[in-house]
Amino acid sequence: MASDLPPPYTALTRHEMMPRTTHDEAARFNFLTHFNRYLSGSIGSGNKLAYEKRVLPAFRAEHGRDPDHRYEIRDAMNRDQWHRMWSALKRNSMEMRQHFGRQVVLRQLDELDAMARQYNEHSGMLELDASVEQPSYQTAVDIHCQPGGYHGGERAGDVAVGANYDVGLFATVGGALGGLNDGGGQAVVDWVKAERPDWKPRRILDIGCTIGHNAVPIAQAFPEAEVIAIDTAAASLRYGAARAAALGVKNIRFVQASGEDLSRWADGHFDWVQTTMFLHELSAKAMPRIMEEANRVLAPGGLILHIEQPQYSDDMPLFEQFMRDWDAFNNNEPFWSAMHGQDLKEVMAKAGFPRDAQFTAGVRAVVDPEIFPPSPDDGEEDFGRAAIWNAYGAWKPIAQEQAA
Ligand SMILES: C[S@@+](CC[C@H](N)C(=O)[O-])C[C@H]1O[C@@H](n2cnc3c(N)ncnc32)[C@H](O)[C@@H]1O
Repeated sequence: MASDLPPPYTALTRHEMMPRTTHDEAARFNFLTHFNRYLSGSIGSGNKLAYEKRVLPAFRAEHGRDPDHRYEIRDAMNRDQWHRMWSALKRNSMEMRQHFGRQVVLRQLDELDAMARQYNEHSGMLELDASVEQPSYQTAVDIHCQPGGYHGGERAGDVAVGANYDVGLFATVGGALGGLNDGGGQAVVDWVKAERPDWKPRRILDIGCTIGHNAVPIAQAFPEAEVIAIDTAAASLRYGAARAAALGVKNIRFVQASGEDLSRWADGHFDWVQTTMFLHELSAKAMPRIMEEANRVLAPGGLILHIEQPQYSDDMPLFEQFMRDWDAFNNNEPFWSAMHGQDLKEVMAKAGFPRDAQFTAGVRAVVDPEIFPPSPDDGEEDFGRAAIWNAYGAWKPIAQEQAA
C-alpha cells in the first residue's frame, strides 16, 4: 500500500453491532475515503494558491491593506471560482457520506435494533431518561449534514443514527482514527499514562460520548475504574451501549444526561472528567454551564481534559483560521467558529479552574500500525494518517481556595 493512500474500507474492525456492508457499499465508502483525501490534498492546496495569487492581491488593491479577520478572507474567497468548486465538492462529500451510511443502515435496521435490544437488556449498561431535554443547539440543525443530528432516528427506539455514525466515520476521516475509530481515546490514554504513570482514577465521566468511540478505550485502559458516558441523544446511546457490550467492555455505563445538569452526581464524585471533540457543538450559554458543572463534580486532585481542534490565536495565520472555519458555514456546525475564537483558558478560569492549574498539550491520534505505515513524527498534521488535536485541561488543585 502506498503510504500516501488511505487504508481500504475493509480495514474497519468488525464487531457484532457494526452494520454489514456489501461489496458495492464498501466500494462506495472506498471512493469517498479517496475523494476526501483528494479534496484535502491536491485540490485543497489550490485554495492557498488561489488566495495568494488572486484573492489577496485583489483585496490589497481594493482596500489598501491585508485582511484583518478570517471573515474578511471568507468573504473574498467565497467569490473565487476555485474555492467555490472545492467547497461545493466538500459539501457534497458530506452529503454523500450520510446517504451511503443511511442506505447501509436502513436495509438492516430491524436486525440492528433487535441485536442492540438484546445486548442492552442483558448488559445493564444503558440508562435512558426521557425527561432529559434535547438541547435546541443540537436539534435546530442537521449537524454536519447528519439527518436529525445525533438525536434523530427513523422510528422510536431505533439505533439508526448511531449505526450510521459508526459505519461512515472511517470514510470521513480517511481512516485516520484506526480500525475502531478510537484513535482519539487511545491517544488520551497514552497521554494520561505518560503524564501520571501511577494514577488510578476510580470514577470517570465522559460528557457528550455519542457512541463511545473514545470513552470505550478509556474504560479498556482503566479496567478498575467505572466509566460513566453521558449524552443527551438516546439514539446514539442505544447503539453505543450495545457496541461496547459487543466489544466485551463491562466497566462503562451509557447514561442519558446533559452536561448542563449533573445534579445526580455529588460534588467531587469523579476523578476525571473528559470531553472529546465536544465543546465545538455547544452554544455560548451551554459551554460555561457545562464547565461549571464539570468543576463541581470533579474531585480535588482530579483531571479535566477537553480534546479539540486547536483554538484560533494570534499565532495561527488568518488563512488557516479561515480554512478551519469551513464547517461552521458549510457543514452545519453553527458554533464552530465562535467556539474556536474563544479564549478557552478564560472560560475554564471563570468556571473555577485556576489558570496556573491549566495546561495545553498536543495529542496525536494513535493509529493501528497494521493498517497504517509509520508516519514521520514531525509534529505536523499530515491530513489523513494521523489526526492531531489540542488537549485543554487542568489538574484540579487539592486545596482550591488556597491555589486560586
Ligand atoms: C461531536 S459529538 C462528540 C464525539 C464523542 N465525544 C466521541 O468521542 O466520539 C457531540 C456529542 O455531544 C452530545 N451533546 C450535545 N450537547 C450535549 C449536552 N448538553 N450534554 C451531553 N451531551 C451533549 C451530542 O448529542 C453528540 O453526541
